[in-house]
Amino acid sequence: MSPSQGTAKVRTVTLHMVSSLDGFIAKHDNSVSWMDTPGSIYEPGVSISEEEVSTFLKSIDCYVLGSRTYEHALELGWPYGDTPVVVVSSREWPPAGTRKTIEFYSGDLKTLVDEKLAPRYRNIWLVGGAMLSQRFLELGLVGEIRLTIAPVLLGAGLRLFDGSLKEKRWDLKNVIAYKNGFVELSYAVPWA
Ligand SMILES: NC(=O)c1ccc[n+]([C@@H]2O[C@H](COP(=O)([O-])OP(=O)(O)OC[C@H]3O[C@@H](n4cnc5c(N)ncnc54)[C@H](OP(=O)(O)O)[C@@H]3O)[C@@H](O)[C@H]2O)c1
Repeated sequence: MSPSQGTAKVRTVTLHMVSSLDGFIAKHDNSVSWMDTPGSIYEPGVSISEEEVSTFLKSIDCYVLGSRTYEHALELGWPYGDTPVVVVSSREWPPAGTRKTIEFYSGDLKTLVDEKLAPRYRNIWLVGGAMLSQRFLELGLVGEIRLTIAPVLLGAGLRLFDGSLKEKRWDLKNVIAYKNGFVELSYAVPWA
């Protein structure tokens, strides 16, 4: 039984990450063009309309991110719209300007999920980076892993999994191959 199973019925934490074929989630120079470089079309794959993407994104109640991912999101242009965002950081941050949807959190991550997020949100998305995701996985706080594999080898960069995790089986729940060559793999913990 998971330590957080008591609230598993009312909330799910989904870890979502885009990874290269060789397991990197960021390049050392932080450039992101590898995530959308057009390749050859995979004919049997599916494509989704902007409307479908928009409907899907509306189903996400809250995003959780580490402070480095937050800084990168600010540089790239805020991708989370008006959806609530919790940034995990031990640092003091200046008030987040007019963006009322951002909260900063420092402290125990199980307390964050069980006491701060679970009472308010059902569909919680942990969207990076590697450091915060690994801590969530180590603590058994992730119920679903959605890994989108980009059709590219990067050769070097930041690894999503750095070898610190223990062996654990996950159940494959869904596979979607897209026309652009990306593949989304969804796994759930066996108790979910
Ligand atoms: N490919 C993708 O889908 C994807 C998705 C997201 C991010 N990324 C990339 O990943 C990179 C960032 O990942 P990262 O692993 O370097 O950093 P990160 O996980 O985004 O952020 C790490 C920071 O989060 C805070 N933190 C983490 N665990 C904490 C804990 N238990 N308690 C308190 N604070 C905690 C700390 O901030 P303080 O130092 O402020 O205390 C730590 O320095 C960026 O290049 C980003 O673009 C890629």
